[in-house]
Amino acid sequence: AWAKVPQGPPDAILGITEAYKADSHPEKINLGVGAYRDDKGKPYVLPSVRSAEKKVVNAALNKEYAGITGVPEFTKAAARLAYGADSEVIKEDRVAITQSISGTGALRIGGAFLERFYPGDKTIYIPTPSWANHNAVFKDSGLKVEKYRYYNKDTIGLDFEGMVEDIKNMPKGSIVLLHACAHNPTGVDPTEDQWRSISDAVKEGGHYPFFDMAYQGFASGDTAKDAFALRHFISEGHRPCLAQSFAKNMGLYGERVGAFSIVCESTEEKKRVDSQIKILVRPLYSNPPVHGARIASEILNDSSLNQQWLGEVKGMADRIIKMRALLKENLEKLGSKHDWSHITSQIGMFAYTGLTAEQMDKLAKEHSVYATKDGRISVAGITSDNVGRLAQAIHKVKG
Ligand code: LMR
Repeated sequence: AWAKVPQGPPDAILGITEAYKADSHPEKINLGVGAYRDDKGKPYVLPSVRSAEKKVVNAALNKEYAGITGVPEFTKAAARLAYGADSEVIKEDRVAITQSISGTGALRIGGAFLERFYPGDKTIYIPTPSWANHNAVFKDSGLKVEKYRYYNKDTIGLDFEGMVEDIKNMPKGSIVLLHACAHNPTGVDPTEDQWRSISDAVKEGGHYPFFDMAYQGFASGDTAKDAFALRHFISEGHRPCLAQSFAKNMGLYGERVGAFSIVCESTEEKKRVDSQIKILVRPLYSNPPVHGARIASEILNDSSLNQQWLGEVKGMADRIIKMRALLKENLEKLGSKHDWSHITSQIGMFAYTGLTAEQMDKLAKEHSVYATKDGRISVAGITSDNVGRLAQAIHKVKG
């Protein structure tokens, strides 16, 4: 029956892990997928997550289904984390929220909701470049995907004028996807002042903002600071929707913990929106898994675990900042004549090296250093032990 099914290409990001695993080099380095590693290169389970998980297991809860929109203690706390505990939209009870299969699932529910109900043109504008999966998620949700300018490869920084101009030139009432913080893949974020202008441009166009916040806490080490853009938009009267992931900031990758929410005009509107989210989710997967959400809920709702977790998030962010500095330092020590200052000025999990697809290919083939073709490296995969070898490899392929 499947004679006509063509062979597909490996995934742009997850395919890298497969290539890495197949390599037998004893000092191979995987900087592909954005997953945090400790300084020994090992996956890191946050101590706060271990404690929360023990509490969950000790409570010997039953394994009944959650409601369609998930574990309420979790979603309530997730909304407080994103919008702020004293946010007017929370106080006024006008945020419709559902648990989701991590950030991807949140984006997909959002895409499907917009496809079904958005009153304007069902086109979503994403930045150039954007997370490799955004295009596929929104296309498969039935939206049309267009691009706006974001990254300037000459300055290795934000193309702020281009971005604002493109937003202003979009057809009125367009849907605009914004990375709330720690832009993936570039690590280049607008400043707070630039966010203010972006908010004005979105407002001027009567556009609809869709925030993807997969790295809250990872950019600055401070979850409130990283929520600036989202909270500023709300204070300006926007009513955005939001995809949240707890994969990175709680290290809950495989537990698939996330949330999708829509800021509504009133509690009454929220109720209607909530009812339709349920109708949308039920035929997709009925209801989400409970274990990871219970862990996240403990961390968000228990004040001492919460404090501990915030410290651990900061610890991860700090180790990444240290590795950025070490990589730059090592490249300079090798006598590289290129300017590597972007490695330390970019933020979040990734560095956008500026290496070409060809150079990335050489990194893999000749040095067993694996990362995505666009030149993005996951800084979280760098350690005190491998940074020297990595710098040498980059120096060799870049010349
Ligand atoms: C990444 O960009 O590497 C992460 O968001 C993981 C993923 O699912 O692609």
